[in-house]
Amino acid sequence: MSLCVHLSSMFLIVHLCVSVCVCLCACVVCARVLTHVCCTDFVVEVQLDSVKQKQRGAVRRALFLHSQQPALQRTLRVANGARVCQDTKIYLRGEKEFRDKLSSIYVTLNFSLNPQAPADSHGLRPIVSYQGPEVIEQKAQILLDCGEDNICVPDLKLAVQGDRKEVYLGDDNALTVTFNARNEGEGGAYEAELYVVLPPEADYSGIARNNESLTQLTCSYETENQTRYLSCDLGNPMKSSTSLWAGLRFTVPRLKDTRKTVQFELQIRSKNENNSRSDIVPYKLEVAVMADVILQGVSRPDKVIFPPPNWKVTKRLLEEQDMGPQVQHVYELVNNGPSMIGHTLLELHCPMRVQSHWLMYPVEMTTQGPLNCTTNHTVNPLRLKLQKSPTEAPLHRHRNRSTTSRGETSVKTSCLSCSTCRALVWTAGRSDATWGCWRGEPVLS
Ligand SMILES: *[C@@H]1O[C@H](CO)[C@@H](O)[C@H](O)[C@H]1NC(C)=O
Ligand SMILES: *[C@@H]1O[C@H](CO)[C@@H](O)[C@H](O)[C@H]1NC(C)=O
Ligand SMILES: *[C@@H]1O[C@H](CO)[C@@H](O)[C@H](O)[C@H]1NC(C)=O
Ligand SMILES: *[C@@H]1O[C@H](CO)[C@@H](O)[C@H](O)[C@H]1NC(C)=O
Ligand SMILES: *[C@@H]1O[C@H](CO)[C@@H](O)[C@H](O)[C@H]1NC(C)=O
Ligand SMILES: *[C@@H]1O[C@H](CO)[C@@H](O)[C@H](O)[C@H]1NC(C)=O
Ligand SMILES: *[C@@H]1O[C@H](CO)[C@@H](O)[C@H](O)[C@H]1NC(C)=O
Repeated sequence: MSLCVHLSSMFLIVHLCVSVCVCLCACVVCARVLTHVCCTDFVVEVQLDSVKQKQRGAVRRALFLHSQQPALQRTLRVANGARVCQDTKIYLRGEKEFRDKLSSIYVTLNFSLNPQAPADSHGLRPIVSYQGPEVIEQKAQILLDCGEDNICVPDLKLAVQGDRKEVYLGDDNALTVTFNARNEGEGGAYEAELYVVLPPEADYSGIARNNESLTQLTCSYETENQTRYLSCDLGNPMKSSTSLWAGLRFTVPRLKDTRKTVQFELQIRSKNENNSRSDIVPYKLEVAVMADVILQGVSRPDKVIFPPPNWKVTKRLLEEQDMGPQVQHVYELVNNGPSMIGHTLLELHCPMRVQSHWLMYPVEMTTQGPLNCTTNHTVNPLRLKLQKSPTEAPLHRHRNRSTTSRGETSVKTSCLSCSTCRALVWTAGRSDATWGCWRGEPVLS
């Protein structure tokens, strides 16, 4: 048996890149068949692109014209000593229907005796004595625009730039990485793609569309061996002297202050045999902290005139009112981010005494939000009966952007006293408005 594939016509079709037909002739030679029979029946099977048949999910690139199938099975009757030939047309699928244009298309033929063939007058069936191979294989190459040897050698170059050098802890704005991919080789790069390894802190959020000079790529996001990567199609082939610009957008939501930098790695990869990859280009970002912290305070009322109208001096100080009019100080601390702050110390000093006389009598201290207070002095040392606390409304509440609620706790504590109040503030999320309210009374007696 022999199989002949007309390679020259195969080259021709591929060059035109359309479904033109070529001939395949399975030339079956019956060399020595048992002498007393006139002819022998065979079953012949031909598989097109047989390597792809074994690969899961792969597309068979060539099909038989009459059936549009990649396999053919025929019965052949071969007379003793005769030669039988059959021509069958096959075609290459459209260029867009498959990616692999580099590897050879193998055509294989195998055969066996037809089990349906009737036995001879003695009830005997022939047997095949294989002297050649049982499977006959021929290969055809898709003709590429790469010179006589049909080997394409690309020269892949990659340049990367980003729109920033730093990423801020807590910042959820996207950053844009722009790259220029070039093929400076003489041949096309087949199945060329940009391969981007993401750092664990980053997520892919899409391609950049803000600039018309950027190519709109198709990218897919995958995970392999715990490495998350992105692959973007750069062309098949990415032709010689191609130069394209494109941009990718990422967010970096899992930054930690334990790492000083995060790094992306970019590379162009192709399936060519020679020179298939560019250099790996790192894109490194410094991890930084930035917080916009505002402190403001107000006194309610902002002035007290002595003596207040209708003031009566009380001999025994039992109730809060007996001390004098109330003064309330409200302080508000806002972190507008983007980063969180920790270990922040807010120190409040209140005038308590003038020349060993009480000036202000500390009544109460309340806090709201993630802050704790400690103090050296006793609040309400005379244990006066207190009025109901004023409604605790913060001065201004800054609630910027949609990020206010993260980690926000509402702690309402009565700090023990206030002369110097040391408030240790841990803002657990940005824009958490924390405030302290100090209530004291000028001492008149
Ligand atoms: C060709 O080989 C395949 C795989 O070994 C087998 O399944 C098939 O029956 C063979 N065909 C013929 C005609 O011998
Ligand atoms: C668009 O991209 C090109 C090339 O990267 C750059 O020169 C140009 O300034 C960009 N234009 C805008 C509006 O960003
Ligand atoms: C994943 O691991 C396998 C086996 O260790 C290896 O063959 C493959 O190249 C790895 N893939 C990546 C993307 O590192
Ligand atoms: C391609 O690579 C092979 C093996 O590395 C080498 O033998 C061959 O010369 C190279 N071909 C070209 C055109 O560079
Ligand atoms: C305040 O103190 C409580 C109790 O000790 C503690 O659980 C909490 O984490 C503290 N909050 C801040 C912001 O320090
Ligand atoms: C409060 O106590 C701290 C430490 O115990 C001390 O450093 C500070 O001077 C004291 N402040 C006043 C006003 O006594
Ligand atoms: C927060 O919002 C207020 C009112 O909407 C605005 O005046 C202020 O500038 C904003 N601050 C920041 C840091 O965005």
